[in-house]
Amino acid sequence: MNERRIAVVKVGGKEIAPGPSIERFARWAAAQVRRGHRLVVVHGGGDEVSERAAALGLPTEKRFGQRVTSAPMLEVVLEVLAGRVNARLVGCLTAAGLPSVGLSGVSGRLLTAVLAGDPPGSLGFVGKPAQVRPLLLETLLEGGYTPVVAPVGVDSAGQPLNVNADLAAGALARALRADLWLVTDVPGVRDAGGSVLARLSVSEAHRLLRRGTARDGMVPKLQASEAALGGGRSVWIGDLDALERFPRSGGTTIVGSRRVLVRGAVPLAQRERRA
Ligand SMILES: Nc1ncnc2c1ncn2[C@@H]1O[C@H](COP(=O)(O)OP(=O)(O)OP(=O)(O)O)[C@@H](O)[C@H]1O
Ligand SMILES: [Mg+2]
Repeated sequence: MNERRIAVVKVGGKEIAPGPSIERFARWAAAQVRRGHRLVVVHGGGDEVSERAAALGLPTEKRFGQRVTSAPMLEVVLEVLAGRVNARLVGCLTAAGLPSVGLSGVSGRLLTAVLAGDPPGSLGFVGKPAQVRPLLLETLLEGGYTPVVAPVGVDSAGQPLNVNADLAAGALARALRADLWLVTDVPGVRDAGGSVLARLSVSEAHRLLRRGTARDGMVPKLQASEAALGGGRSVWIGDLDALERFPRSGGTTIVGSRRVLVRGAVPLAQRERRA
């Protein structure tokens, strides 16, 4: 590996549903790589899992924002996330001129997970990230491919587990000492008054979580942000508009509680503009 920094970019399910936004995202990603950045893409897709499950007569139940995953629900998760959604995104990235390879956390034992829930296993086949083996990602990046990772982990016995995509991305970013970009359907993290916060410290994020100002899908994003910041890199949350505008404006940059990230460490696009 050379010293060029890696960015883990997690893109939400709504942005990669069939339609114009997935092409927008693919154009942005292809442009980043053309400029010499190395990306690892992680995707969500929970809404499509719920739709497919409903069509099969499986109701969706969520606890603390996590999908309760029975054995048949795990089959749907694998079919939709590691299959259809992953292939669609790889196809769009390829069409945008970005050679990319679809995989999941099972591949190369990339993302080992342990049963989530209290007690563990109470959510079914839901895993929380335990260990990352980045060799497969590094190998693909060396070969000029952009890895596209479906949010599935594997336990020590080889059992696939459903892992929240934000938490998976945070774990990969931490292991790769990479920047983390969480691309979602809101322009950034909102405060109690609904305004988007341009900057948010980890301790302020804890406060938003405690007060319920940050809830549902924002909870794992803030948890993932904290995990990734532990690797000393930068974290950003926002939507496609904000992503395209960055760094002029838009999105929320998460900063460590005591210091402003790592001195001199600014996200990709900003570094590039300064260069
Ligand atoms: N304080 C907050 N600021 C902004 N959004 C918030 C906040 N609290 C909760 N949210 C919710 O978080 C949602 C984003 O998470 P969500 O899980 O829905 O999308 P995603 O993670 O991008 O997609 P996927 O789950 O498919 O990967 C927003 O649509 C918003 O409703
Ligand atoms: Mg989500």
